[in-house]
Amino acid sequence: MKRVAIFASGSGSNFQAIVDATRLGELEADVCLLVCDKPDAYVVQRALQSGIPTFAFNPKEYASKQHFELAILEELQKHDIDFIVLAGYMRLIGDTLLHAYGGRMTNIHPSLLPSFPGKDAIWQALHAGVKITGVSIHYVDEGMDTGPIIAQTAVEIDEYDTLQSLEKKVHAVEHALYIHTLQHIFQKERQEV
Ligand code: GRF
Repeated sequence: MKRVAIFASGSGSNFQAIVDATRLGELEADVCLLVCDKPDAYVVQRALQSGIPTFAFNPKEYASKQHFELAILEELQKHDIDFIVLAGYMRLIGDTLLHAYGGRMTNIHPSLLPSFPGKDAIWQALHAGVKITGVSIHYVDEGMDTGPIIAQTAVEIDEYDTLQSLEKKVHAVEHALYIHTLQHIFQKERQEV
């Protein structure tokens, strides 16, 4: 069974959905660690309630990204983590983690990449006037939302959509897509072994 660490910075609805899926047997993996760069984020409460160990840190207390990524790496090794799932982790991954986990790290982004990378992707799509946006799952590389795309789901934008209503529609497809995609990756890897 894959030993997974989830990285998150905010509310953690994706974190919760993934943990629940592992417990229901829909996703064959063990979520063994939460890594969070915002110690007051709600996701930390969720991990506590789910009994999942957490490494919550304040990046400002480290001299550089390399320093806090080395601290993260130590935690990942301590928990014997095979795979990293980014779910609303609002930082670029640096060389330290990329070297250790390259090809074993995915991210979810609320747009149809390569359109609208970076922050406020749902707002960007709404304001660009496009009629279709969506959700992408991709492998992580050194860029901002640029790694190879693994899966996407489209979401239609209609003329009455507001930021709130569109956010609701996008979030509604995120959880199922992430769980399904991770299950597919892990199953494929098991078959290859
Ligand atoms: C999601 O929209 C995800 O696509 C983006 O950050 C958000 C995280 O939401 N990268 P949550 O914390 O999982 O609720």
